[in-house]
Amino acid sequence: MARILITSALPYINGVKHLGNLVGSMLPADVYARYCRAAGHEVLFICATDEHGTPAELAAIEAGQTVAEYCAEQHDIQKTVGAGFSLSFDHFGRSSNPQNRKLTQHFCEVLEANGLIEERTSKQVYSVDDKRFLPDRYVEGTCPNCGYEKARGDQCDNCGTLLDPIQLITPYSSVSGSRNVEIRDTRHLYLLQTQMQDQVRAFVDARAANWPNLTTSIAYKWLDEGLIDRSITRDLSWGIPVTQNGKPRPGFEEKVFYVWFDAPIEYIGATVEWAEANGGKDWERWWRTDKGAHDVTYVEFMGKDNVAFHTVSFPVTILGSKEPWKLVDKLKAFNWLNWYGGKFSTSQKRGVFMDKALELLPGDYWRWYLMANAPESSDTAFTWESFKACVNSDLNDVLGNFVNRITKYAAARFDSKVPEGGAPGEHEAWMANELAIRLPALIGYYEAMEFRKAAAETRAIWAAGNEYITKAAPWTAYKTSVELAAVGIRTGLNLVALFGIIAQPILPETAKKILDAIGVPEDRRSLKPVNVGTGDYATLLSVLPVNMPINVPPQLFTKIEDAQVADWTARFGGG
Ligand code: MF3
Ligand code: ZN
Repeated sequence: MARILITSALPYINGVKHLGNLVGSMLPADVYARYCRAAGHEVLFICATDEHGTPAELAAIEAGQTVAEYCAEQHDIQKTVGAGFSLSFDHFGRSSNPQNRKLTQHFCEVLEANGLIEERTSKQVYSVDDKRFLPDRYVEGTCPNCGYEKARGDQCDNCGTLLDPIQLITPYSSVSGSRNVEIRDTRHLYLLQTQMQDQVRAFVDARAANWPNLTTSIAYKWLDEGLIDRSITRDLSWGIPVTQNGKPRPGFEEKVFYVWFDAPIEYIGATVEWAEANGGKDWERWWRTDKGAHDVTYVEFMGKDNVAFHTVSFPVTILGSKEPWKLVDKLKAFNWLNWYGGKFSTSQKRGVFMDKALELLPGDYWRWYLMANAPESSDTAFTWESFKACVNSDLNDVLGNFVNRITKYAAARFDSKVPEGGAPGEHEAWMANELAIRLPALIGYYEAMEFRKAAAETRAIWAAGNEYITKAAPWTAYKTSVELAAVGIRTGLNLVALFGIIAQPILPETAKKILDAIGVPEDRRSLKPVNVGTGDYATLLSVLPVNMPINVPPQLFTKIEDAQVADWTARFGGG
């Protein structure tokens, strides 16, 4: 049994996330966590809301709330919506909690003790009318790279270039719209990343073989361009206060840490929250290599825009502390899910958001579609048509229909029991052989975190079951030989159990309905080869003992109609 620590990139607090956010980190992290648990590993799955920074403050202003109220409310909303998608976090924390504050201040102080922090004076945009500095997104203006007129201070949404607010041409305040701005001096703490260049490269070199191309290419691009010293404080009031020797740092009373400094530390902070919320569990055995975490495998999930922060910036914090914290082992990054010729966008409210999606259909429908079409090797496009095709074919025709046909027939002709009698023949041998090839492949895809392939293989196994039952045709056989029909239905019912077992990572609610109805005990739901078998006929028939009573599961899925597609297209756009 391995110990696996899994984190999903922390969703920003500024509103319910869209399906693009979901498929880029939280959902695949959940599927992987569920796979690992079903494979018998000890898993700790951590997430939290990322609550600091200018996006949180701006969203609170727009909502007419204090930022603290706004964050508390939005955290609960995101938690509820996540539960609607069956996201099985062991803990869903908040980066604004005291646990993270303490850790963040601690990291800064040890980094300073190690000579890696320096106070420097820099130039910042100051709004005369707002009487304040305008960090990051508080200032907008024309992008010096592409000419886009609404570029944000930290990044241009049009061309993606990372910016320093003072680079903007004709800057204006996004708080008041005022153009009465000037450049003033301000003091900030700088993390001396230049001094950590070699150590970070050595760390990336040591991990690169385990990381997919998308991850290593981004990490090396940043290293090759050369790390720069980066400011880790901001002129803001909402955030983690800056301390020195545990007291407010002189000259920094009006400043807080930069959101990207404290957010990844919340992976640890949320684990401390989890420990405290669960009667004082031991969090250090997950995070401190001197206290048991040396044999933990740490796996991170994120969209590609987050990779540099996790392969370079956060490792600078960890390595620079010279303390024995756990570093990331495997990192799975995703491309974009596109929305009708553009991107899903929170600021422009474009696309389908998680709360609205759940009003249309249950979480499992979306989970299946998103994982079967996950943007792994390239960007993928969401379309209502492909969503409909995927749900109607894979879930209804292939899985739902099989489960329904077999269990109903067993109920009608075999007294709702797993029938005994009869001897397996060529069709059962064919099915066993399919499983001998496909089950190990499926496990391999999960181990490699290749989610599209895992979904495709899951579907292929369901499809093979349909092919088997067409060949064996127990309903026809029944007319001449009840024994022959019994073999078909006994095999079919065991396949139903197996199909439920392998569906667990992606379709947790559906899998539970199937497994509960046909009575597979909790301790026989594991995805270990000893349980699911590697395809010999004996294990194919081993899940359900003969004569065991079974129930017909409730209807698993309904088809999406053309009229619904038309309605949703009209409501959400697209098409
Ligand atoms: N909130 C960030 C985003 O959505 C991700 C933060 S990940 C963490 O892009 F590491 F900082 F936590
Ligand atoms: Zn630009």
